Amino acid sequence: MRREEECKRISLELHDAMGQTLTAIGFNLSYLRNDIPDSCLELLDDIVSIVDDMSNQVRNLSHDLRPIMLDDLGLIPTLRWFLNSFTRRTKIKTKLEAVEFDEYRNENLEITIYRIVQEALNNVAKHAEAKNVKISLKREITRITGFIQDDGKGFDINKIFKEIGEKHIGLINMRERVSILGGTLKIQSENGKGTRININIPC
Ligand SMILES: Nc1ncnc2c1ncn2[C@@H]1O[C@H](COP(=O)(O)OP(=O)(O)O)[C@@H](O)[C@H]1O
Ligand SMILES: [Mg+2]
Repeated sequence: MRREEECKRISLELHDAMGQTLTAIGFNLSYLRNDIPDSCLELLDDIVSIVDDMSNQVRNLSHDLRPIMLDDLGLIPTLRWFLNSFTRRTKIKTKLEAVEFDEYRNENLEITIYRIVQEALNNVAKHAEAKNVKISLKREITRITGFIQDDGKGFDINKIFKEIGEKHIGLINMRERVSILGGTLKIQSENGKGTRININIPC
């Protein structure tokens, strides 16, 4: 998990240091507004909107590296936030069903599940032509089980796994993350019948 630690450090740095610097620039620019000639106002607006865009990019980058929310709020609220923004962006409906997850905190497990949902959903947006995705997580006594299921066009798993090595590292990464924690990840998919990723991780 060295890589995750490194991501966390860079993410915090981006969020705190860069984020605050950009906020300060924004403030100073807004003070300028009353003191500059009218001929410069358009240019000022332009700079303000560039700084705004940059703040958003820094926030998104920081979140992609390591969702800080995960540490503050835990897995399920962070997933709800991610799914809301996914739906806003893609118009694909999502439904999250999480059973017995309330007091659950384990950093490695949380980040693994978050990354799997993130990659699976990115695949849905990129490849599936789906209308709906259902995400289910269930905490049992010694394991977490769950799935991510879409109603999209599906794919030929054997064919894709033959090509793996040259490209398609998303599915392989997902499987590797789960196996590091001693769990299993199984993919079910059929042309025209959607895709379902099943996870089963001991805890
Ligand atoms: N939910 C899905 N629906 C349809 N096809 C999928 C889905 N997930 C993965 N695929 C297929 O499997 C391939 C491999 O996925 P992945 O390993 O994540 O690589 P990448 O997304 O970079 O192509 C994709 O290119 C796509 O053809
Ligand atoms: Mg992918």
